[in-house]
Parts: sequence; C-alpha cells; structure tokens
Amino acid sequence: MDPALNELFEAAVQAQARAYAPYSRFRVGAAIRGGSGRIHTGCNVENSAYPVGTCAEAGALAAMILSGDRDPTDILVLGEGEALCTPCGACRQRLREFGGDRLAIHVAGPEGVRRSFSLAELLPHSFGPDNLS
Ligand code: THU
Repeated sequence: MDPALNELFEAAVQAQARAYAPYSRFRVGAAIRGGSGRIHTGCNVENSAYPVGTCAEAGALAAMILSGDRDPTDILVLGEGEALCTPCGACRQRLREFGGDRLAIHVAGPEGVRRSFSLAELLPHSFGPDNLS
C-alpha cells in the first residue's frame, strides 16, 4: 500500500477500535484526509433507539469540519466481514457536501484496501451545493 494510504488505514484501525456498536456488533472506522493533509477519524456510535445511531463517516466528517479543515481528498472506511463496507446512501450525500470530483473513497477490510471509488461512481447525478447557486 502506498504510504499515504497506509497512514489513512492505520488511523481507521484506531478509530474502529473505539466503535460503539453493541447492537449490530459491526464496528466501523473511518479516516478522512482534509485538504490540509491532516487526517480526521470517526467511528460508528449506535443508540438503543436504533435510527439515532451514527455512521463512522459522519463522525469523521464532523471532526474534519470542527478542526477547520475542508476539501477532503480521500476517505477510507474500514468495516468487518467479507462484504464491501461501502458508505450508506446518507453518508454518500454527506460526503457530496464537501467532496468534489477528486474525492477518492477507499473501502477496506482488516487486510487492507479492497476497492477504491470516486464519489461520482457511488453517487451519480447527485445534488450538491453547486445545484443551489
Ligand atoms: N456503518 C457505518 O458506520 N458506515 C458504513 O459505511 C456502513 C454502516 C455502521 C452503521 C451501524 O452502526 C453498523 O455499521 C451496521 O449497519
């Protein structure tokens, strides 16, 4: 793995270890690299009122914004199991708000990155801030 991607992966491993997922038992970690080059992380935080739980990507995006960073270049999502842990529909739209054509979405398992996608691949013909201007 290239060193920058590996750094993102290691950050996601740390985040995944902090996941609060007592209901699904599916722990997810996400690491996003902002335009500054800094990495911001998030994990899923579930809730006994199930729909209130939040995804790892949402946490990582919130951390990025809170730190004053914008314009993410890469996000890596680390899930469990064999299936690809691609971002859910709501998180694709969250990413769309801040990530443009250059945002790469890396989907990983414990062994490393499995697939990489562009945002346009995961959310074609999307609605974003530019649609309002
Ligand atoms: N989850 C994420 O955090 N990110 C994803 O990309 C897919 C799913 C979480 C939500 C829930 O806490 C658990 O994984 C099972 O769906």
